[in-house]
This record gives sequence, C-alpha cells and structure tokens, in this order.
Amino acid sequence: MKFGYFDDAAREYVITTPRTPYPWLNYLGNEDFFGLISHTAGGYCYCKDARFRRLTRYRYNNVPWDDGGRYFYIQDGDCVWSPGWKPVRTELDQYRCRHGLSYTIIQGVKNGLEAEALFFVPLGTWAEVHRLTLTNRSQAPRTFRVFSLVEWCLWNAHDDLNNLQRNFSTGEVEIDGSTVYHKTEYRERRDHYAFYGVNAPLVGFDTDRDAFLGAYNGFDRPAAVVEGKPRNSEAHGWSPIASHCVEVRLEPGEARSLVFVLGYVENPQEQKWERPGVINKAGARDLLARFATPAAVDAALQDLRSFWDRLLSHYVLESGDGKLNRMVNVWNQYQCMVTFNLSRSASYFETGIGRGFGFRDSNQDLIGFVHQVPARARQRILDLAATQFADGSAYHQYQPLTKRGNSDIGGNFNDDPLWLIFSTTAYIKETGDFTILDAPVPFDNDERSAQPLFEHLKRSFYHTVNNLGPHGLPLIGRADWNDCLNLNCFSNDPNESFQTTGNRAGRTAESLMIAGQFVLYGREFVALCARIGKGDEARAAQEHVDRMVRAVLEHGWDGAWFLRAYDFFGRKVGSKENEEGQIFIESQGFCAMAGIGLEEGRVVTALDSVRERLDCEFGVMLNQPAFTRYLIEYGEISSYPQGYKENAAVFCHNNPWIMIGETVLGRGERAFEYYRKIAPAYLEEMSDLHRLEPYVYAQMVAGRDAYRPGEAKNSWLTGTAAWNYYAITQFILGIKPGYDGLDINPCIPPAWEGFRVTRIFRGATYHIEVRNPRHVSKGIKRVSMDGKVLSGGAIPISDPGTEHRVMVELG
Ligand code: GLC
Ligand code: GLC
Repeated sequence: MKFGYFDDAAREYVITTPRTPYPWLNYLGNEDFFGLISHTAGGYCYCKDARFRRLTRYRYNNVPWDDGGRYFYIQDGDCVWSPGWKPVRTELDQYRCRHGLSYTIIQGVKNGLEAEALFFVPLGTWAEVHRLTLTNRSQAPRTFRVFSLVEWCLWNAHDDLNNLQRNFSTGEVEIDGSTVYHKTEYRERRDHYAFYGVNAPLVGFDTDRDAFLGAYNGFDRPAAVVEGKPRNSEAHGWSPIASHCVEVRLEPGEARSLVFVLGYVENPQEQKWERPGVINKAGARDLLARFATPAAVDAALQDLRSFWDRLLSHYVLESGDGKLNRMVNVWNQYQCMVTFNLSRSASYFETGIGRGFGFRDSNQDLIGFVHQVPARARQRILDLAATQFADGSAYHQYQPLTKRGNSDIGGNFNDDPLWLIFSTTAYIKETGDFTILDAPVPFDNDERSAQPLFEHLKRSFYHTVNNLGPHGLPLIGRADWNDCLNLNCFSNDPNESFQTTGNRAGRTAESLMIAGQFVLYGREFVALCARIGKGDEARAAQEHVDRMVRAVLEHGWDGAWFLRAYDFFGRKVGSKENEEGQIFIESQGFCAMAGIGLEEGRVVTALDSVRERLDCEFGVMLNQPAFTRYLIEYGEISSYPQGYKENAAVFCHNNPWIMIGETVLGRGERAFEYYRKIAPAYLEEMSDLHRLEPYVYAQMVAGRDAYRPGEAKNSWLTGTAAWNYYAITQFILGIKPGYDGLDINPCIPPAWEGFRVTRIFRGATYHIEVRNPRHVSKGIKRVSMDGKVLSGGAIPISDPGTEHRVMVELG
C-alpha cells in the first residue's frame, strides 16, 4: 500500500493523505539553521545545535503523535481548519504534501478555499520562511481569519523539558508591529533572540500559550481561533508562543500570499539593546525586509533549487530502472547531505538532546557527500581529527557548537580511529588535495599539541597495532562498530548505561570486524604512504597488515564463516559452537571487502553462509540465531528482543558491506539483489508494513524473528545512507575515484544491457556509457575516452572544464 508517489521531474515525494503510518519527515536548511518538518507541518527548528539553540518546542513521545510545529489555522465562519490537516484535523476536501529538496509544500482545500504553505530555509539565512498562499476557488467573496502558531523552546531543549520550576518564570517576549520577539534569558547571558513576523498588519496576536489555547485545550481547538478573537496576550513566564491573526478578504478567483519569517539573530555584547530593556532588532528587521514580498521568496526558492542542481550534478545515472535512478540521483544523495549536516542529532527518533556528532558516524558519512561539498568535507575531517587523543584513540562524539569531544556516550571504541583513514583517503581521491595531510591538527583540541593530519592517520593505524589481544587480533575495547557488543561491560544493573559502563578492564576480548577493517584501511594507509614518498613508512605498515591477515586466517575462521570475536574469557563469539549468535554480518562484510582468504576460497564460503543463514525477505540480518536470553558477557546486544536493533534485525548500515563483498567475488546479481531489498524506493508498495518514509533509508528493519518482520524504525540519520550510496555508485555501477583518475569496474546483474553515468570529477565532466553485450557481471573488455582506447580501467585526470566521452564495454 502506498500513501503517495514520487514526482521524479520535480524531485519531490508527494504524500496524498495525511494519514501516513508514521509522520513522514523532511529537513529544511543546509548550513547552521535547520528545521525538521513532517507532512502535517509538525517539527521544530534550531540554529547550529539541536540541544543548545532550539528555537521551537517539540514534545517527543506525545499523544497524539507529532503535535507541535508551525501551524496555520483558518477560521472561516464556523469552520476551523488547517492546511496540513493537523492539528485541527478537520476533514479536508483535498490534501497534498510535497517534500522536496530542502523545502516542503503543504496544500489543503476546504469549502472552495485553498491554502498552500511553502516552508524552506533560504541559503545563507538563519530563518525559516513560510509563505502561505490563499486562493478563493469559490464563486463568492470570502472573508476569513488566519492564525499562525509556533511555541518557543526556552533554548536549551533538555532543560526546557526538565527544569520547569525555573522555566515557568523566565519566559520573556516583545511585540513590535507584526513581529513577536522571543528574548528569554537575553537580559543576562544570551546574545541571541528569535522572532516570528509576517508581512501584513495584524488584527491581533498572542504570545502566551495558555491565553491563546484556553485552559485544558490542545493545539487542535485554541479558544482564540474558535472564537476568532486573538487575546493580545503578553507572556511573562509560563510558555511563550508567537501567534499572528490576519484578516483576509478574497474575491472569487483571487489569491493572496502572506510571508512569515521565523528567525534567529545574534548580537555582540555591546549591541544587544536598542534602549534599556528593549532588544536590538536590526538583524530581525533586515531578515523581514529581505523576504517582504512573494517575489523575493520566489527568488530565494529558485536559488535553493539551483543549489541542489549543482550538488546533484556530480553523479547522474541513466539506467533502465526508474527506482534505481531516483535513489542514486536524488534521494540517496539528499539523505547523505542531511546526515552530513545533522549526524545523529535530530530526527523523529533522535531527540536532539542525546547525541552530538559521532567520530565513527561522521567519518563514514563523509563518503556519501564528499563529491558534493568537498570543502566542507575537508573541514569536517579536520574537526574530527582534532578530537583524537595522542595515542590515536578518539572521543566517541563531539558537540557541534563547541567542536569539543566529550565522553557522554562513552569512549574506547576501538574501531573509531580507523575510520579517519577511510574518510581522509576518500577525500583525497575525490579532490586530489594532498595538502590536507600537512594541515596542523591538535590532539584533544589542545593547540599546543598540533601535528600534521598525516600524523593523526599514522596514530590511528598504530592504535590498532598497539592494542592487539592474545591471538594477535585487535582488542575490541568498549565495542567496535556494533555499539551493543559489549564484551567488557558485565552489567547487571539496569541503571547503568551499556555505552559507558566497563566493569572489567579487558585485554582479552578481540574483534574480527576490526581485524577486517584494519586490513582494508591499513592497505589504504600503505598506499597513501607510498603515494607521498614515505616508502619506509609504507613497508613497515605493510608488515603489520600482513601479520593481521595471517592472524585472521589462523584464528578467525570458523569453518564456513569468519568468527565475530573472542570474548572476555577468550571464548569464540559467532561460531558454530555457540548456541545463539553463531554467525554475524560485520566480520563477513569486512573480511570479504578486504579479500582476506580470497584465494583460499574463504570469501566465497563466508558469503554463501551469509546467504544461507542471514539473508531474509527484508535484507541481511545482523546475526543468527537471535539471542533469546540476556548474556552478561555480551552486553546490550542480547538486551534487545529478537529481531530488533543489533539483535538480528536487518541493520541496513551493514548490508552494503555484503554487497561490496559480493562485488569482490564478481557476483553482480546478488550484490544488486541485496541492494534492492533495502533501498526505500523499492519498498514503496509496502509502506503500510514498513511504516517509514519510502524516500529515505531507516537504520533498521525488523528481522525474521521479530514480532513484525519488515517494519522499519529510525529513519533519516543513519550511516546506511552513505554506505549504500558508496556501494551502488562505486562498486555495483563501479565508478570509483582514485588518486590517478576514475577507476571503472562495474559489477552488475548479467541481464543488464548497460547504463550511463555523467560524472563530474575534479572539475572535468565524463559522459560514461557502459555496455554489456555479452551479459556478464564483471570484467572490462575495452575502455575508450574520446575515441582513444585506454589500457586498464582507469580514466586519467583531465583539465577542469573539459568534457569527455567514455565508452566501456564489459566482457
Ligand atoms: C548506530 C550508531 C553507530 C553504530 C551502529 C551499530 O547506528 O550510530 O555508531 O555503529 O548503531 O551499533
Ligand atoms: C544504542 C543503540 C545503538 C546505538 C547506540 C548509540 O545502543 O541501540 O544502535 O548505536 O545506542 O549510543
């Protein structure tokens, strides 16, 4: 069952009923200022930091769902309705929500009156613009009242929910013309305020929530709206809001637009006040003036569209498969940019107060957006590296406002350092910018300790070398990529966090996932050293990599697949000897991608075991059999009910590891089948079961053992976006940036005739046509550029601004 459709030409997902199985979200904003907006206009916005600079309030875990957002009410005689259906939920004659690239348009029609609300954050602007266009589609003149509503958050989103004894006394506002200013705490330590204004005179306004709603009312029946009478309330403490009331008269066929601006302004200390007690509104007035007309809004929207045209122009696929085209060209890249901007901070599953930017997460996200915004990718790498410690380990996360690492969600995850090698080499391959390696970067943000970035990569590499266990395999530390495999935790106290508790200092528990990761990214490190003339460094590193390969072959093989780990007691994890959790996806993925034991047939055996034991209708599950009991020596993984999260769900982040592993073997049919099983565009028809947005990946889909297999959770902010983009574009379609050019080596289902890709790489444009006349999966027969046959699959680097025709024949 579907609840909408893809409008490919407009690059929008069009939702045709407000009754989706879950609020379906979109994101506004591309830098600093971000908004989350559901298909009924629920959500919130913040500037720079979802926790510390939250502009509007949102209640997670609320009933009904998703109450609170940017709401418009239309009071048309006795009929009160909202263009997005919520919060009033008056049945509409027509409803449409168009989620586009960084904008959302919600349109409702009731009794011949049409209301269309456009929401977006103009480029380079700390504000949301809301343009409400009202059209009289009836035969008679109409006079009605429009009420707006946002509820302010008292800035710190955590305290806002928590510290009510203080909060109920601190709220302050100013009202000036048609603008409401929110200035809580501005009189003392804050240098910022928020505002919500409209380009029209008001009948009245409200700034006190309870006055506007009336005691005991919800957002669905505000007394001021029902009576058509704004209260002109002035908030002192309690819950400040901003609501405008505008009267509109329309002749038949006439339309009128109101432009609302919801913004954020920072003032330097000496310029905070206009006069004593009155805030300096210059910044807000500028913003209101910039968007005072519908034409200015149109122009800003056009700029936003051009911005996305440019971002999406670097990799454009034309294949015979429309679903694949829309994933590769639009939605997957879009999600990659959102995960870059927000990391795991704010979604409908992440509350924006729990998690900052993860070291491991952000390094992996980078492979999904580096081709779109290389300069920002460079900065991100430097920010992340600055939170590394001198011994190569790293803070697990940092807060974007301060860029300082913290231990709030634990530390000592021994996979963390290696991801820095992955992201940095991906950045250099995309851009050719080796100078990043010379950039001075501190350890633990202490400027005195700065060393060239290259030194950070080296310490990442040697962090593994210096932390090997009894089998010569990497110690797992708190956990590796799988946060929930906590082999040194031993917690039996429900008040302890699995992420921060380590009850035993473990120098036994080892990870085969990190072993595979070390071989894969260790080889990247070796290749990089060789490239920059550090031959000795390369040779020394190569020896460690070779030793690791031998350790995996000797101690990491279980007969038909790779072990997952050794636990605290030195016992096997992920072995046929175990009762539950006999096989895990992560070590199969990483050891296969690294090609460990490829010649000996181990990769093929391991991936056949994955097929046999982990594959299900909805994708590849994380482990099997699922854990049915809590195992104190395994930790959080066994705390989840079977089939959910890290306990045997389809954890979509790691499925691409298997896809890429299949391409190492040349099995394009399987690689693509795994791709299709979890790619959202292919799941649209089962949206009722899946429940979440059919245009973006979710972190997990319940596995075979779950109560509801196939049901997804945690959409949007997941490493799944970057990894799937990487797998499809670089390994299945097989167009991969390298230091010396583009390597071409597709691995596709043999039935495919071929495909075309336009790739902008280092400033030159390549029109690549891949033909598959012999219907093979993999293997290059001939590559030519501009009519000249090239030896090998690599396309050389060309002058920026030039265009080239590349013909690739498989066979
Ligand atoms: C979540 C975390 C990620 C972790 C994964 C597996 O997606 O953000 O860091 O690797 O879960 O536990
Ligand atoms: C929980 C989640 C896991 C996530 C971790 C991050 O353990 O289950 O997916 O990676 O929290 O803190």
